[in-house]
Formats: sequence, structure tokens, C-alpha cells
Amino acid sequence: MSIIAYKYTGDSSFSKSNGSSGKQIVMAGGGIPTSTGGDKAYPGNLTLYVTFTCVVAAMGGLIFGYDIGISGGVTSMNPFLQKFFPSVYRKQIEDTSTNQYCKFDSQILTMFTSSLYLAALVSSLVASTVTRKLGRKLSMLFGGILFCAGALMNGFAQAIWMLIVGRILLGFGIGFANQSVPLYLSEMAPYKYRGALNIGFQLSCTIGILVANMLNYFFDMIKGGWGWRLSLGGAVIPALIITIGSLFLPETPNSMIERGNKEEAREKLRRIRGVDNVDQEFYDLVMASEASKMVEHPWRNLLQKKYRPQLIMAILIPAFQQLTGINVIMFYAPVLFKTIGFGGKASLMSAVITGSVNVMATCVSIYGVDRWGRRFLFLEGGTQMLICQVAVAIFIGSKFGIDGNPGELPKWYALVVVLFICLYVSGFAWSWGPLGWLVPSEIFPLEIRSAAQSITVSMNMIFTFIVAQVFLTMLCHLKFGLFIFFAFWVVVMTAFIYVFLPETKNIPIEEMVVVWKNHWFWSRFMVDVEYPNGVEMTNGGQLVKEV
Ligand code: BGC
Repeated sequence: MSIIAYKYTGDSSFSKSNGSSGKQIVMAGGGIPTSTGGDKAYPGNLTLYVTFTCVVAAMGGLIFGYDIGISGGVTSMNPFLQKFFPSVYRKQIEDTSTNQYCKFDSQILTMFTSSLYLAALVSSLVASTVTRKLGRKLSMLFGGILFCAGALMNGFAQAIWMLIVGRILLGFGIGFANQSVPLYLSEMAPYKYRGALNIGFQLSCTIGILVANMLNYFFDMIKGGWGWRLSLGGAVIPALIITIGSLFLPETPNSMIERGNKEEAREKLRRIRGVDNVDQEFYDLVMASEASKMVEHPWRNLLQKKYRPQLIMAILIPAFQQLTGINVIMFYAPVLFKTIGFGGKASLMSAVITGSVNVMATCVSIYGVDRWGRRFLFLEGGTQMLICQVAVAIFIGSKFGIDGNPGELPKWYALVVVLFICLYVSGFAWSWGPLGWLVPSEIFPLEIRSAAQSITVSMNMIFTFIVAQVFLTMLCHLKFGLFIFFAFWVVVMTAFIYVFLPETKNIPIEEMVVVWKNHWFWSRFMVDVEYPNGVEMTNGGQLVKEV
């Protein structure tokens, strides 16, 4: 018998020591732990098989991203506006006296963008049950099919109701996909690479946004003014990728065990990890599943005191992610760039630029998340966004003033604004963007995982909806102060992370309870919580576990 001791060594690291030899290895402070005698690090490799399945599953993020990227561009295409929103079109073209900030202020136009998010929020609640009872991959399949239907409806739309119904179907699809894909990735990945593999979801989301931005740019040039149909209908392609992909994906071992297929799960785990001896991890998964069976009502359970930290994170992390103001850039970059004086084409081009920055900066976080940790990225990204938001507010404010009349905008001026917007986007793309999905998906214990993930998706969608719905009105009233509004929230969320979020890198997913137990604040909610699989607390604040 060897004794493993876990010791919390501050806010961002864990150390684990072999009781018999006294050897100590740092688990989360200084990179990926090396396995030493007695270390419980699960054996296993980053196999080709797991990498491939995660790449395919991550493509679920494409539909989410494609949609985010397409709506902003389409709503700035004149033929689209003329057909469905003639009053907005007239206001934009004819009314030269209207304050520049208010040109696009139309509730019905924003309703087009944001209806999807309401639908997604409703469907993610349904998806929770499907994901838990029928498995992760079926949720992905439903997501893909619904999204396909929505894309076709939008591509062939003849009237505004077809647009809205199409958006609602797309929203249903996104609700299912965003519920299941992040969970799937976090469960499949070996824990040392969980961050990097999970961020595949966000990476494909950013690729979806970029591709959509570029397509808008080219489709807008199509003569006859029907390019918007291709933009909207093009969503069929990412939808088919995830629909067909999900048919071939294996189920996660966690979900197999949860649904009673233990032996199959053990075999699958061997295949995924590429080693024969998966006993320890398998045992832990079974234990987690046993614990979860005792929970009959995952929703009601979420309200128990011992799940308070997870519940608060499930609510606040996605809300904060949206309060960074990122979607003001993502949805409305073309509108925003038009507002600050770029021409129609230049504005779509600028959106392509921010889209590329978004993709590249996401790769930085894939590289760093399991090395530098979640907290470091959150804190750095927050600070960077804050500086950029203040700079953009000053630049736009000093040029447009209160009446929003810029006159001729010098080229260098516009370039500086685009530069700061790019720096802001990169700050988001290696922090709140990926971590807003990764951290919630890895902190929930199995028994509440699906339900809690639905809360995360719903909160994300509510706040996306609110920001999308009120942004154009806020721009009209707050003017450049809008950037200060979001900057304020960035200060709040960065402080929140600093004080309340424990580091979760390199902690096995079914052992996560340890981080709350050892947190200066959250430990008070965990008094009656057992450590996973017999880990116990000793006098010196050390966690001792027999293996
Ligand atoms: C957010 C989206 C956002 C996107 C930008 C995602 O993580 O949930 O709302 O548009 O990142 O890359």
C-alpha cells in the first residue's frame, strides 16, 4: 500500500507526494506532472484515436461560430435589408441627419439576430436530459439535424417569419451542441490534456466565425443581391459535418458507465488511453457514477449547499463571458466599422481581420492552458481587454464626440481603432472565450454535470441575447461610453477570478472536488463532502489517500 498525499500549495497549485518515499511532485503549479512511483496519475497517452474523436466532436463548435459570424454581415447587406427590413434600410440610406450612433437602432433587426439565443436556451434544458439518459453523442446528432433544418429554412426564406422560424431551429441545434460537445471533450480527454482538447470546441467556433465573415464578404459581391441566401444557407455545411461526424463518434466511458454499460466502458477506456491498465481511472469513473445514481433529481440537487461553488460558477462564468462585450464585436463588427466611418466593403474586411486574430489567439490558449493554467490566462486576458476598451472609448469618443458626427475619418485613425479592437479580441480569445466553456465543463461532478452544463449554456445564451438585443440601442444612447460600460464589467470579473476561482489544470475530472475543499472561501460549503474514493483529510491540511 502506498499513501498519496495531496496538498494545496496556494491558489494555483497542487502538490502530491508519495507518503512512503516522501517524494513530492507538483501537480498543477509547474506544468504537466511526471509520473513517479506511487503517483496516481492515470496511465494513458494522447492517442491518435482520442485526438481524432476530439477533433471531430469539436467541430460541433463550427455551427455555433458560423452563425455568430454570419448574422452581423448579413444584416449589413443592403439587398437583405431592403427585402426584410425596409425601414432600417431607408433610415440608413436616406436619413443623413440621424445621429451616426443610432442608424442601426431597430428592435426588429436585433430580434432577427437574438431570437436564436432564446431558442438555444430553451433547448439546452431539454438537451440536459438527452445528454444524461441517452448519451452525449445523440445530443450532438440532434443538434446537427436541427441546425441543418434551420439553415435550409433561412437560405430559402421568402418572408420574415421564415427567417425567424429558421433562426429558432438553428438555436435549438446550438442548444444541443453546446450542451454536449464541451462535456464530451472534457470526458474523453486524458486529464493532462483536457484544457487543450476542450479548447478545440472554441477553436472551431472561431474558425466558424472567420469562415462566415469571409463568405459574407464574397457573397455580398454577387450580382443580383441574393448573396445573403448563400450566406445563410451555407450553414448547412458545418451542420452536416457534425451530423455525420456524430454518427461515427464513440460514446464517452463516463456516459457508458452512467447508463450501465460498464464492461463496454472499460474496453473503450483502454482503446482511448492506449494502455491496458486503466483500472484506477475506470474505478474512479465507476465510483463517480455510483455517487451520481444516488441523485434522483439533478436539478433539485444543484441547489444543495455542497454544489454551491459549482452552481455559482455555472451562472457567473458564462454571464461574465458575455459581459466582456465580445459579441458587440462579433455580431456587429461590420455595423460598428460602418458607424465609425468605414465603407461597406472595408467594414466586412475589418471583420475578417478581427476573425483571423480570434482564431490565432485561440491557438495560444490551446498551447498554454495546461501549462500556465486557467487563472493566469483569465487574469492576463482581462487586463488586456480592459486597457483596449478604455483606449477604444477614448479614440472613438474624441473623434465622434457626443453628436456622433465624425466628418472625414483619417485613415490612420481608423487603423488605430482596428488595432486596439484586435488586441482586445486576442485578449478575449485566449481567456474568456475558451475558458468560458472549458472551466464549467470540467468542474461539475458527474451527478450534476448535464444539468449544470445546461445552466451554463442557458446563462450564456440569455446574456448573449441581452447583449445582442440591447447593443444597438445602447450604442445609440451611451455612444462611446458603451466601451466603458463593458470595461467596468471586465474589472468586476477579473477581480472575481482572482479571489474565487481555484486552479483546475491537471486535476482529474472526477477528483475535482478537492479544489473546492481546499479553497479558502469555498471550503465552508464542502463540510459534509467526501473526498473522492476515500481521500481523507489529515491534521496538517493534507489530503491522504490510500491506493
Ligand atoms: C462565446 C461567443 C463568442 C465567441 C467569440 C464564444 O466563446 O460564447 O459568444 O461570440 O466566443 O469567439
